[in-house]
Amino acid sequence: MILGVESTAHTFGVAVVDMDGKILSNVKDSYTTEGGGMTPIDVRKHHARVGDGLLERALSVAGIGEEEIKAVAFSNAPGLAPCLLEGMAFVRKTAKRLGVPVVCVNHCVAHLEIGDVVGAKDPVMLYVSGANTQVIAYESGKYRVFGETLDLGVGNFIDTIARYMGLGFPGGPVIQKLASEFKGDELIDLPYSVKGMDVAFSGMQTKIRNLLDKGGDKRAIAYSMQEVVFAMLVEVAERALAHTGKNELLLGGGVACNSRLQEMCRIMCEERGCKLFVPPKNLLVDNAGMIGYLGCKMYKAGIFEKDLSKVDIAPRERTDEVEVLWK
Ligand code: ATP
Ligand code: FE2
Repeated sequence: MILGVESTAHTFGVAVVDMDGKILSNVKDSYTTEGGGMTPIDVRKHHARVGDGLLERALSVAGIGEEEIKAVAFSNAPGLAPCLLEGMAFVRKTAKRLGVPVVCVNHCVAHLEIGDVVGAKDPVMLYVSGANTQVIAYESGKYRVFGETLDLGVGNFIDTIARYMGLGFPGGPVIQKLASEFKGDELIDLPYSVKGMDVAFSGMQTKIRNLLDKGGDKRAIAYSMQEVVFAMLVEVAERALAHTGKNELLLGGGVACNSRLQEMCRIMCEERGCKLFVPPKNLLVDNAGMIGYLGCKMYKAGIFEKDLSKVDIAPRERTDEVEVLWK
C-alpha cells in the first residue's frame, strides 16, 4: 500500500492506494472561510490540526493498519510554500515512524495521470482550478504546457467576482447557480482575451466590477461571464488538440465540476470526433487519491527517496520540469 498526502493549497488530504493503483480511501479536509480571504499562515495551522485525524480515517476506511504502508507519496510541488511545508513535516514524521521512503509527486501531473481511471490514454488535459489554468499534454518524454493563464487562475478569478457580489467562498458553484437562473440569452459584451494559446482574465475582472458598481444584474453577469470564460478555455483546449493531433480531452481541477463547462467541452469534442473524459468530482478537485495513484506508479518505477533529509518542497516547479521516468 502507498499513502498519498496532498497539501499544496486549501485542501489537506490523505489516501490509501494499493500496489495495483486502486484507491482504497481518499479523505480530505479543506480550509474555508466565510469572508473568503485566506492567509497562508491560517491554512498552515489548519493543515497541522487535521493531519493525524485524516490519517486515522484513511487507514480505517481502507481497512488496513499502518504497517502495511510501503511508501508515502506527497505533492511537494507546485503550491503555497507554508502549506507544502506543513505537508512535508507531516510526511517526514509519518515516513520516519513507519521506516518507509517518500515519493515526491508533482500535483499538476497527478491531475493528469488520474485520467487513467476513467479510461483516458493519451489526453490533452484542461486543468482548471483555483490557482492553476493550464492546457497540458505528454509530448516527447515530457508533460508540456501548451497554454496557460497570463494572470489569474480561472477559479480564483470566478471566486473574486463572487466575493465582490457578496456571495462568499468558494464562488464557482454559486456563480453556476446564478447563471442557470438567468432567463435571457443576450450576452453582455465582455473582453474575450485569448493570446495565442494563453488566456487572461484581469481585463474581464475590471469590466465586471464596473458593471456591478453600476448595479448590473448579477444573474446576467454570471451567465455572460461563464459563457465567455469557458469559450476562451474551450478554444485553447481545441487548439492544443489540433496541434498535438491527440483525440482525447481530459478535464481536471475544481472548475471542471461546472456543468456548463463540461457541456461546452462535450460539444467541441463531438464536433472534432474526440473523446471527453471527466473524472468523478472527488478526483477532479484537489485530493490525495491522485497523489497516491501517481506515487504508486513512481514507486514501482523505483522513483523514491529513502533519505528523508533530502525530501524537499518545490513551490514553483513547472510541469515541464518533471522528469517522466515512470512511463
Ligand atoms: P489548485 O492548487 O489546484 O489550484 P484549488 O485549491 O484551487 O487547487 P480545486 O479544488 O481544484 O482547488 O478547485 C477549487 C476551485 O474550483 C475554486 O475556485 C472553486 O470556485 C471552483 N469550483 C468548484 N465548483 C465549481 C463550479 N461548479 N463551477 C465553477 N467553479 C467551481
Ligand atoms: Fe489542483
